[in-house]
Amino acid sequence: MHIVHTLPELRSFVNAQKMKGHKIAFVPTMGNLHEGHLSLVLEARKRADIVICSIFVNPMQFGENEDLDAYPRTLKEDTKALESNTCDLLFAPNAKEVYPNGLGEQSRIEVPNLGDYHCGASRPGHFVGVATVVAKLFNMVQADIAIFGEKDFQQLAIIRKMASDLCFPVEIIGISTSRELSGLARSSRNGYLNASQKQIAATLYQVILTTRDALKNGNRDYAALAEQAKMQLIEAGFKPDYFNIANPDTLASSNLNDKQFVILAAAYLGTTRLIDNLSFKLTH
Ligand code: PAF
Repeated sequence: MHIVHTLPELRSFVNAQKMKGHKIAFVPTMGNLHEGHLSLVLEARKRADIVICSIFVNPMQFGENEDLDAYPRTLKEDTKALESNTCDLLFAPNAKEVYPNGLGEQSRIEVPNLGDYHCGASRPGHFVGVATVVAKLFNMVQADIAIFGEKDFQQLAIIRKMASDLCFPVEIIGISTSRELSGLARSSRNGYLNASQKQIAATLYQVILTTRDALKNGNRDYAALAEQAKMQLIEAGFKPDYFNIANPDTLASSNLNDKQFVILAAAYLGTTRLIDNLSFKLTH
C-alpha cells in the first residue's frame, strides 16, 4: 500500500491510475478504523480497480467544545488494518495540506435545509465543515465512486446533495451500518466508553427498534413516541440530545401521510455523544 501525505504525491498516483483507465473508489475517514470502516473498504474493493482511503481528523467539523483534541489518532494501527484489507493508497494529509491558508481563509460549502435538523441543530457549523472537507477531498482524489456509512445518515444525505448540486462527477454509495452483536452501531467514539457504559450503549438502538415497531403498528403520534423514547433513554442512563422521526428525503419531521421514515437519535453517555438511526418503509 502506498502512503502519501501531500497533494502532489496523491495527484501523481491518481493521474497514473487514470492513464491506465482504472476505476477509483474512495473511502474518506477520520481514522481510528473499526470493522465498520473496513466494510466500506471491502465494498470499495468490489466496485473498483483501485481503492484510496483518506485519514484526516478535520478540524472544521468540530465545534469549540467538542472532542477535536481527544479524537483518537491511531495512524500506525490504521495503516496495518488498511494494508491487510487491500487498500491501494492511504492519503493522510496534515491540516496545513488541507487548509494551507488556515480555516479562516477557507471557502466554505453550505448545503441548505438538510443541515437544519438533528445533528445540524445540535452542532452548528458541523455540516459546513463536513461538506467543505468532503468537497476538497473529492477534488483531490478525483475518484469515480465514494463510499460512506449510513450510520451518519444526515451526513450522507448532505454529501449526496452537495455532490449533485455542485456536479461532482462521483457516484456516492451508502453502506448499511455495521453493528456489534448487541446492536450497538460501530463508531470510533465507542472507544471512549467504559465496560458498563458499553453495555448501556446498546439501548440506543433497542429504543429506536421499539419506536420503529410502534410506527409499523400504526402509531402516528410522533411527538409522544419521541418523548417515550427519550424517557426510556434517560432510564437507561443516557442524556438524550435528540430523538426525531423524520422523512428520509427531506429530513424534516414526518407528516401523517408519510410511508417512509428515518428515526434519528443522539444521546450522551457520560461525556460521549453517540448517534444512530434506522430508515424503513411501511408496506401497507
Ligand atoms: O464520517 C467521517 O468520518 C467524516 O465526517 C468524513 C466524511 C471523513 C469527513 O471528515
